[in-house]
Amino acid sequence: MTQPATDSHEQPQSYPPPADLAAGAVATAALYEEAAADRLAFWGRQAAELLTWDTAPTQVLDWSDAPFARWFADGKLNAAANCVDRHVAAGHGDRVALHWVGEPGDTLTVTYADLHEQVQRAANALTELGVRTGDRVAVYLPMVPEAVVALLACARIGAPHSVVFSGFSAQALRDRVDDAQAVAVITADGGYRRGEPAPLKPAVDAALATTGPDGADRAPSSVKAVLVVRRTGGEVAWTEGRDHWWHEALEAASAVHEPVSVEAEHPLFVLYTSGSTGKPKGILHTTGGYLTQAAYTHRNVFDLHPETDVYWCGADIGWVTGHTYIVYGPLLNGATSVMYEGTPNTPTQDRWWQIVETYGVTKLYTAPTTIRTFMKWGEELVSGHDLSTLQVLGSVGEPINPEAWTWYRRVIGGDRTPVVDTWWQTETGGIMISALPGVTSLKPGSAQVPLPGIGVEVVDDEGRVLPAGHEGAGYLVLTEPWPGMLRGIWGDDERYRDTYWSRFRDQGWYFAGDGARRDADGDVWLLGRVDDVMNVSGHRISTTEVESALVSHPSVAEAAVVGASDPTTGQGIVAFVILRESAHGADAAAVGKELRDHVAREISPIAKPRQVLVVTELPKTRSGKIMRRLLRDVAEDRQVGDVTTLADSSVMASIQAGMRSGK
Ligand code: WTA
Repeated sequence: MTQPATDSHEQPQSYPPPADLAAGAVATAALYEEAAADRLAFWGRQAAELLTWDTAPTQVLDWSDAPFARWFADGKLNAAANCVDRHVAAGHGDRVALHWVGEPGDTLTVTYADLHEQVQRAANALTELGVRTGDRVAVYLPMVPEAVVALLACARIGAPHSVVFSGFSAQALRDRVDDAQAVAVITADGGYRRGEPAPLKPAVDAALATTGPDGADRAPSSVKAVLVVRRTGGEVAWTEGRDHWWHEALEAASAVHEPVSVEAEHPLFVLYTSGSTGKPKGILHTTGGYLTQAAYTHRNVFDLHPETDVYWCGADIGWVTGHTYIVYGPLLNGATSVMYEGTPNTPTQDRWWQIVETYGVTKLYTAPTTIRTFMKWGEELVSGHDLSTLQVLGSVGEPINPEAWTWYRRVIGGDRTPVVDTWWQTETGGIMISALPGVTSLKPGSAQVPLPGIGVEVVDDEGRVLPAGHEGAGYLVLTEPWPGMLRGIWGDDERYRDTYWSRFRDQGWYFAGDGARRDADGDVWLLGRVDDVMNVSGHRISTTEVESALVSHPSVAEAAVVGASDPTTGQGIVAFVILRESAHGADAAAVGKELRDHVAREISPIAKPRQVLVVTELPKTRSGKIMRRLLRDVAEDRQVGDVTTLADSSVMASIQAGMRSGK
């Protein structure tokens, strides 16, 4: 774990809430008092007020089978009806739900009434294809409006969706489809990325093929139907009987669909995320509790006023941020959102600021990596645009350094807007630690305080709570169950207990896997992961996953991977590989490129190592465990730490020499 920096962090400047924002804010300090007085009653009120129930719940939390929680268990509702139907019924059908912007410049305005019709048609189309309540549906789509429709259509029939990021490889898609036993895949012919149409359907075909990438036969997948959105108009291979065009299926389907009323604990989605072993975990979220937390956090953290706000979350739907803060949170709150298909530098590096200006965006949510990239591109790109509509800026996914925080506020926010740093995880379903923009005085670089209703502590190895102002770093734990908490890992209860609940079993705390400290004011500073999970541009990638991909290459005998700090991406992946005899003497640069491309093919371009270093040995303990800590020292160009536990202490010297001699 890294130690917190003590320089500028110690006496940060503090930014009180702007007076006008505070005066009209949806969240006031009273929320903290209410939640502290009776936490469960507080959540009960949120669930009752923010959602529309078919059967109102009478219970809040059943924790009798901990760590398996049941929230609002005797209530019934439908997620899609909450996101769409009730707004139309309340007379807001003409309100824009999505201002969608395609990368090539095409745009689409989707109202709540449009969504209502599309979602009903899609729900009927899925039913026609044989998808039943409880079946899993994989979604592998670019950032097109159909992605939102697809998720809501699944939710409408009670079929949990499993979104797979469209940048993932065919193999990664297959692994996730198999694990969830998905019966259908919703995909597209392709999407636009960096000015070019990027095909997607071939990866689905490869994933579902009965011949594996190695040419060997493999079992047919569980998928019976593939729905294909036409986006790029490119040629696609077609499997008769299995493949169906989305537009044809929706056109043929009825525009009326009765939402399936499900129990609060009915699974809403499974979303895979990296853990500290190679196999991704299917994080399970259910309906009533997740939606409560999505609506509550989105409304209060972004101070959402649905009649006037234009909200934009720049994440991808393939990650949890997209689920909670592009789809469920904003739609539950009846918000108007911007959704953008492409990359921030296409066709020009001020694309985002054009969009903010065009739509009058008021609330913006993005990751520190993106902010640091904009910093690198220079503030001239921003200054030509009128961003005066912006009122609240959010940050998520990795610790935000104070420099990036102040730049975000000053350059994007015109030195007016609060910047809320929001800490949470796929597992938590929604934001857990964040300032409230109308209440909290902000401290650059700190996520600050748990939201009302959330219990957070920073503890040492033995589970002792570290007092505020304690100099050392500790572990972040969540001390109370919360409505949006994961309900388990798909098909693996034991891994769920082990991963999150065994470390502090006696106290019954959730172990988040993040290092943290609390300053003298009690504000929380996040310090990065304490396990073998890397955070690259806000994406969670496990070291073992990348190592497995590397050793699957015929030239590689052994591999060790570390996340090294990187000024833009937070961490960069550095791989140390030992080559097989057959590859000895190969050109190091060519090998490096080949292996980087190999990892991109096996997992995704996001998992591509920044650097590949060919070594002859790896630092191991006498019991054979790779000492990544030492490799991280090398990768970050630091003095190598204690090597006394190494089986052969000369190994590090030779690795360092290799690193210095030009990589
Ligand atoms: C990291 C993304 C510091 C953290 C929503 C966490 C953060 C992991 C922050 C979850 C933040 C997320 N400050 N670190 N504001 N937000 N993280 O599941 O390490 O993709 O455990 O969820 O990202 O990543 P995930």
